[in-house]
Amino acid sequence: MPEPVAIRVVVNGSAREERVEPRTTLADFLRHTLGLTGTHVGCEHGVCGACNVLLDGRAVRSCLMLAVQADGAQVTTVEALARDGELHPIQEAFREARGLQCGFCTPGMLLTIHELLADDPEPSDEAIREALGGQICRCTGYQAILEAVRLAAAKLRAAGAAGG
Ligand code: FES
Ligand code: FES
Repeated sequence: MPEPVAIRVVVNGSAREERVEPRTTLADFLRHTLGLTGTHVGCEHGVCGACNVLLDGRAVRSCLMLAVQADGAQVTTVEALARDGELHPIQEAFREARGLQCGFCTPGMLLTIHELLADDPEPSDEAIREALGGQICRCTGYQAILEAVRLAAAKLRAAGAAGG
């Protein structure tokens, strides 16, 4: 068996240095080594998007990446969204607009939307649909999720305006 490899990553703002087997996926590293089980694994084939996390601010499929490929990067998981017991505006919007039901797809969905809204604070419905095209939800339906993203965008714009 290949020797474990030392990697350094900043996960949710904390610097981590760990040894991982070269074949360990980023998803398994986050879930099993770091205990961040908010990252969900659905298909393990890059299809469903449940495992999406942000790597240096960009949404990636953590089931398709090896942990060693994240060496030197900043990783953000769903655990970083809520602060001091307060949900992130995107999470609030998903709750208010009923953008989740079982919630299995939600972590990847939230991080994908986080990337979208960081790039485009007022996305068109077409842009939202395109971003959601890589995310599979089996129970809520996309109309509620579309509403949630519109609401999240409005909340973030309002927070930005309030924050000056
Ligand atoms: S678990 Fe990674 S895309 Fe489905
Ligand atoms: S809320 Fe259940 S899979 Fe999306």
